[in-house]
Amino acid sequence: MPTVHVNLADRSYDVIVERGILSHAAKEILGAGLKGKCAVISDQNVASLYAPALLENLGRHCIDATLHVIPAGEASKSLAAANDLCQELATQGHDRKSFVIALGGGVVGDLAGFVASIFYRGIPFVQIPTTIVSLVDSSVGGKTGVNLVAGKNLVGSFHQPRLVLVDPETLSSLAQREYRQGMAEVIKHAAIRDAEMLHEIAAINPQSRYLSDVLIARNIAIKARVVEVDEQETLGVRALLNFGHTIGHGIEASVDYGQLLHGEAISLGMRAALFLSEKYASLPHEASLLLTQIQMKFDLPMVLDQSISTESIMKKILRDKKFSAGKIQFILLAQLGNAIVSSSVNLTDMEEAIEWIRQPLPINCESGYNGKG
Ligand code: GLY
Repeated sequence: MPTVHVNLADRSYDVIVERGILSHAAKEILGAGLKGKCAVISDQNVASLYAPALLENLGRHCIDATLHVIPAGEASKSLAAANDLCQELATQGHDRKSFVIALGGGVVGDLAGFVASIFYRGIPFVQIPTTIVSLVDSSVGGKTGVNLVAGKNLVGSFHQPRLVLVDPETLSSLAQREYRQGMAEVIKHAAIRDAEMLHEIAAINPQSRYLSDVLIARNIAIKARVVEVDEQETLGVRALLNFGHTIGHGIEASVDYGQLLHGEAISLGMRAALFLSEKYASLPHEASLLLTQIQMKFDLPMVLDQSISTESIMKKILRDKKFSAGKIQFILLAQLGNAIVSSSVNLTDMEEAIEWIRQPLPINCESGYNGKG
């Protein structure tokens, strides 16, 4: 089974990728030194599918588990939900010797990780991600948090998981749109660090929903290597993971919840970042087209709707916590597989890029890329 080790001194951990691991998770959890009482936090969609097998396996290995189910969706990523969970954990007898298991997608992982980081001033937690976005991205790296009315992820902590268990079989239950948005993050990781992987992604049949364990592990390893050198995003290296996210977040924040999923907005943000990469990082136009074709192959949105105004996107971008220091650190591609942090991009450039992605795609993108050549 492919295992990615995340090397962070005394906060190091393994990400184990194995089909069916959900039903024998206890062995790995005990192997990571966790035992006793645990709180499994999941959501209404995921709990009914996967919690019974997990709880049965934990029980058989004398891990005393309580189940805590939150409503599915971004609204659960709130201080109120974190407060309710802490209360529940306390009333159900959890204490500093307990640990948390996050079973679900990004919302569950971020919230459960945050709860683990504050309950009794911090208890260990295990991530069991069940969506593509969460398994290649949010479950690894220790970012936890909740949203405020003022913005997403404005309250949180760095709290690394003790173990991440990835069961690729959970991907078969994903809705088509969830699969599609997840592929945007898979493509993003390859785009910033591994051009060869982009060709492999392009050769995947999007209808199959199949991602090999090895490809998943390699994609996770891209994130792991970045986190190892810049755990708390202070050196400008972890920021590379934000390729497509500056304008993407602005777009996501400008629409009603659900109109564009995170990965869909990031896909539009990547197209804008490609435009700026050609302008400021000498990215060859053919490389830009190739990435665009791969995004299109997975049916990701590439053309920004006229109803979303540039003014509103720019307002959200300027409110983004990434701009708190007043400086724009924009992630560009110098080549496929080589992302850089640039300070050349100004606000007018971003407005131009937002206008650019309203344009229909060039004809030679429409044919779709099949991974050959
Ligand atoms: N998703 C970006 C990061 O974890 O830094």
